[in-house]
Amino acid sequence: MGERVALITGSGGEMGHGVLPRLRDQGFRIVALDLYDLPETLGRYCVETVRGDIRDEGLMGDLVQRFAPDCVYHLAAMLSAHSEADPFMAHQVNVDATCSLLRQCEESARQKGRPVRFLFPSSIAVYGLPDAATKVEAGAVEESDWNHPRGMYGCNKLYIELFGTFLGRRAGKAGEPGVDFRSIRFPGLISAETLPTGGTTDYAPEMIHAAAQGKPYSCFIDEHSRLPFMTMPDAVQALLDLAEAPPESLSTRVYNIRGFSPSPAEIRKRVLTHFPDAQIGFDPVPSRQAIVDSWPADVDDSRARSDWGLSPEHDLAAAIDDYLVPALRKRYDGD
Ligand code: NAD
Ligand code: SER
Repeated sequence: MGERVALITGSGGEMGHGVLPRLRDQGFRIVALDLYDLPETLGRYCVETVRGDIRDEGLMGDLVQRFAPDCVYHLAAMLSAHSEADPFMAHQVNVDATCSLLRQCEESARQKGRPVRFLFPSSIAVYGLPDAATKVEAGAVEESDWNHPRGMYGCNKLYIELFGTFLGRRAGKAGEPGVDFRSIRFPGLISAETLPTGGTTDYAPEMIHAAAQGKPYSCFIDEHSRLPFMTMPDAVQALLDLAEAPPESLSTRVYNIRGFSPSPAEIRKRVLTHFPDAQIGFDPVPSRQAIVDSWPADVDDSRARSDWGLSPEHDLAAAIDDYLVPALRKRYDGD
């Protein structure tokens, strides 16, 4: 078998920064697409970089036909805060464009006579708990619990989970090559390399990056509200592990994962051990707090652990002490 080809959409985003180098290490020929030019540090891993919109069906169809990817990492999306602000645009990007890409991948699989592995980052936003009290009572939710998203972003993600799983099952029943759909419901992600925009979980990385730069930070979420999080290196490792898992080991096509589940107050406390002068306050914004109150305090990741060996390296202490603080000191202080 020759070199495998990976098509990565949203390649210039936070997750793309982690995924591209790792796929290149695995020997993939990488075709990368994003709305914006890819930084040269990432472009050098690619055989082709394309500046374009996933809503451009002609462009996406041409890429799939020309490169016949063995796998697609479909990272491009509008994140939660932006999706709630413009639900029609969110639907076009997160649903319409994704369905179209799935169709193009299915056609390509049939032409080539082998499946196209389709990696889809979903989110804890697919859960919809009615209020903060129920959230506390529910604790760590399983994949099938509370699938009633209250926000547009969660609706978009849940639909693609269902549609992708349907396409994979249909191909299996027909005994035809098709889309081998695999999805992870990511918790909030924290990277030392990049800062997020447009997400609800952005307060955690923003707080830590601000402290490392000596800037004051006002958290837009109540200090006691809990959400699951994970470091970006652990998230990327999980996505690559799921991508390589043998199909027969998968008991589902959609997996919960998590690293730790802190409240903002607990993140602040740990950050202060490294930056004791950091000014971190709390000024909850009701619309953003409502989203957090509907997302689970924690998720049950036992299926990912038993099916494909999920084993994140970082708990909250390790994330801050061993990963974020050393990297951020280097980044902002040149230490
Ligand atoms: P990001 O916003 O940093 O990256 C998304 C990338 O997609 C950006 O580079 C953006 O330019 C690109 N993009 C957006 N719309 C596009 C379009 N129409 N056409 C082409 N490119 C487009 O987000 P990320 O953290 O890298 O997220 C990657 C994936 O993981 C997304 O699907 C997101 O929903 C999911 N996810 C992220 C988190 C998190 O905390 N970061 C958590 C759960 C799920
Ligand atoms: N971190 C993402 C967001 O807040 C969750 O998918 O949008």
